[in-house]
Amino acid sequence: MDVTALVRRIESKQALVGIIGLGYVGLPLVREFAAGGLTILGFDVDPAKVAALHRGESYIQHIGADRVAAAVKTGRFAATTDFDRLRECDAIAICVPTPLGPHREPDNSFIHATGREIAKRLRPGQLVILESTTYPGTTDEELRPILETSGLACGRDFLLAFSPEREDPGRKDFDTRSTPKVVGGVDAASTEVAAALYAAAVDKVVPVSSARVAESCKLLENVFRSVNIALVNELKTVFDRMGIDVWEVIEAAKTKPFGFMPFYPGPGLGGHCIPLDPFYLSWKAAEYGQWARFIELAGEVNSQMPRWVVAKVASALNEDAKPLKGSRILVLGLAYKANIDDDRESPSYEIIELLRDAGALVDYCDPFFPTARKTRKHDLGLKTVPCDNATFRRFDAVVVSTAHDVFRTPGLFAGVPLVVDTRNLVAPLHPGGDGGPRRLVKA
Ligand SMILES: NC(=O)c1ccc[n+]([C@@H]2O[C@H](COP(=O)([O-])OP(=O)(O)OC[C@H]3O[C@@H](n4cnc5c(N)ncnc54)[C@H](O)[C@@H]3O)[C@@H](O)[C@H]2O)c1
Repeated sequence: MDVTALVRRIESKQALVGIIGLGYVGLPLVREFAAGGLTILGFDVDPAKVAALHRGESYIQHIGADRVAAAVKTGRFAATTDFDRLRECDAIAICVPTPLGPHREPDNSFIHATGREIAKRLRPGQLVILESTTYPGTTDEELRPILETSGLACGRDFLLAFSPEREDPGRKDFDTRSTPKVVGGVDAASTEVAAALYAAAVDKVVPVSSARVAESCKLLENVFRSVNIALVNELKTVFDRMGIDVWEVIEAAKTKPFGFMPFYPGPGLGGHCIPLDPFYLSWKAAEYGQWARFIELAGEVNSQMPRWVVAKVASALNEDAKPLKGSRILVLGLAYKANIDDDRESPSYEIIELLRDAGALVDYCDPFFPTARKTRKHDLGLKTVPCDNATFRRFDAVVVSTAHDVFRTPGLFAGVPLVVDTRNLVAPLHPGGDGGPRRLVKA
């Protein structure tokens, strides 16, 4: 295959980039490739998403509908469900989901299905890049053989690389463009061309020696977060028993100018990455006779957090001589993190269901979710209650699960009988203790 010709097409902005899977990862890539002057054809199996994009709408708030609409208007971007059009693309990036199965096992079926769709249309001279987070070896051992069922040979006829996404929804100081992008090809030519392609979308490309290194890099980043969050969650429970405020301990530790990085406790892990991806590595490690004990332990500690929070609510209500059963409890925040409309894997759902299982009458308040979405695992059948003090005061307990800025409104918690705060949101609003809830418990 003519590597130089493909690099030339990319650098002269003549290349057409196909992006498969137009979600949280695919859409920001569309936006940045368009900003870099390339033309993009987006593919998705969901016709509703494709139709929304054609109307110039974005279904993910923080992506910015205006920028997607601008790319559609200038003719830089079109979306389709017609996978035959993959033939038109010079490069194809795969951004499909990689969830966990019911027993926490990796589910690469979306990657496999997409690989089969590409293989049916693969033509010589194309570059395929996997972006979906997965265990080391997926690109080489799974995607490559599927693509080669086309009769074309990797290296000779087409190129193949892995490049992980580093999206952090809602983040303001770094975006897709300013976050360095790691790229590893199954051979040197694949790395070179994939690096040239991403140079149009991001400020800095970091080439590595193989697809396996790039796959492992993403997992190291996510395992690092999962383990450190578990550590601080465990310390929270230890300090709590000792009557020490973990938040104050972290603030003090943070003053050390070297060798310490703060992580914060919370009601449990959320988001598409941290609760799921580490288990991709521990599962794969077993194939090599290895145990990834830190990963499993962190998973155990973090996944217990919603139960710990509910136990704190129960004991706090008990002090008011109230049982969970029949108490009115308001959970603040369905999103898994502050100020975004992303509720994937959010621990709020589990907290609400545990409270309901115990007989509590539960509502939620989250301006980012006027109605609770029906997900694969949850169907709350609830709408948000208004975010005001009169509403909050009607509940026996208010549980802060997400630290949305809107919950920092002065007077919001005034006179609320009990607040159980997993984010240390309420105490800093009332430094002297005045004007706040009648009782505040950190969890
Ligand atoms: N969300 C994040 O912040 C984030 C960050 C880094 C990495 N990742 C990884 O990126 C990958 C994609 O995640 P996401 O958050 O963008 O998911 P998402 O659910 O937001 O988007 C996936 C899209 O793929 C589409 N899709 C599903 N099957 C398809 C198929 N066979 N062909 C074409 N389209 C298909 C869905 O309709 C959806 O629009 C995952 O592997 C994830 O682990 C996500």
